Amino acid sequence: MSEQDWAPTGIDISRPHPARVYDYHIGGKTNYPVDRELAERFIAVAPQTSVTALDNRAFLGRAVRYAAEQGIDQFLDIGTGIPAPGNTHEVAQEIVPSARVAYVDNDPIVLAHARALMPATDRGRTTFTMGDVREPEKILAAPEVREVIDFDRPVGLLLVAILHYVADAEDPAGIVNRLLDAVPSGSLLIASHTTSDFLPPISAERVLEINDDAEFMLPRPHATIASYLTGVDLVEPGLVQAPLWRPEEGTDLSPERLSQSWIYTAVGRKA
Ligand SMILES: C[S@@+](CC[C@H](N)C(=O)[O-])C[C@H]1O[C@@H](n2cnc3c(N)ncnc32)[C@H](O)[C@@H]1O
Repeated sequence: MSEQDWAPTGIDISRPHPARVYDYHIGGKTNYPVDRELAERFIAVAPQTSVTALDNRAFLGRAVRYAAEQGIDQFLDIGTGIPAPGNTHEVAQEIVPSARVAYVDNDPIVLAHARALMPATDRGRTTFTMGDVREPEKILAAPEVREVIDFDRPVGLLLVAILHYVADAEDPAGIVNRLLDAVPSGSLLIASHTTSDFLPPISAERVLEINDDAEFMLPRPHATIASYLTGVDLVEPGLVQAPLWRPEEGTDLSPERLSQSWIYTAVGRKA
């Protein structure tokens, strides 16, 4: 094992972890051979995987900026990921310096890097807690979450690139709705979810095979993802591929480019 592949105690590097595979796709260094191997298996059948991950990350930035511009100053970010440029608190605090963020993730390696996420600053507070999106009530009751989120005021709820790790039997729609039940009217849901709608059928089949094999993530069709978001009114332009969600000027929206972006994104407001 090279020095770069050293792992803190308690970190399982015998099987791939979503946060580290994603980190590899977006060009990070917090990943291990088992993560890189799985990432490369995806890239071999669907070279657009890394483009998709970067599109997702860019959406997160635009959506958090949008929410902060709408006056949201507290965010519950479930499925935080390993710190990378454009973390939620950085984007939000550019607009609302006092914005607070409660980060939640179920991967201990994300916790191991949390200190980098939470530098001592006189800006808004951030906390980090270990939690599983499949146990929403535990997340909502966590002291670190309660410390920075006031559930009587609108919240920005981030479920960005996480619901595709939740199996059908675990009821993704129910999870979204249980979280939405805890936040008041005016709150914004920011969500994204991978899809194989834009892959050639043969690649889509292979991606699903890799997913089955690794029990990793489940790309889903547009209608299924839309059915998870019925608890909010989607803001324009609705549930669309990441580059199409309020793109910055000059973004390449050609059919070729869009065919490489296999993730749907949306922001919705709780009525
Ligand atoms: C693809 S990364 C997305 C990171 C970030 N949200 C973004 O979009 O840039 C998915 C994150 O979700 C976390 N995750 C996966 N399953 C989870 C679960 N059941 N509960 C909490 N976090 C989970 C992973 O550890 C990883 O950090």
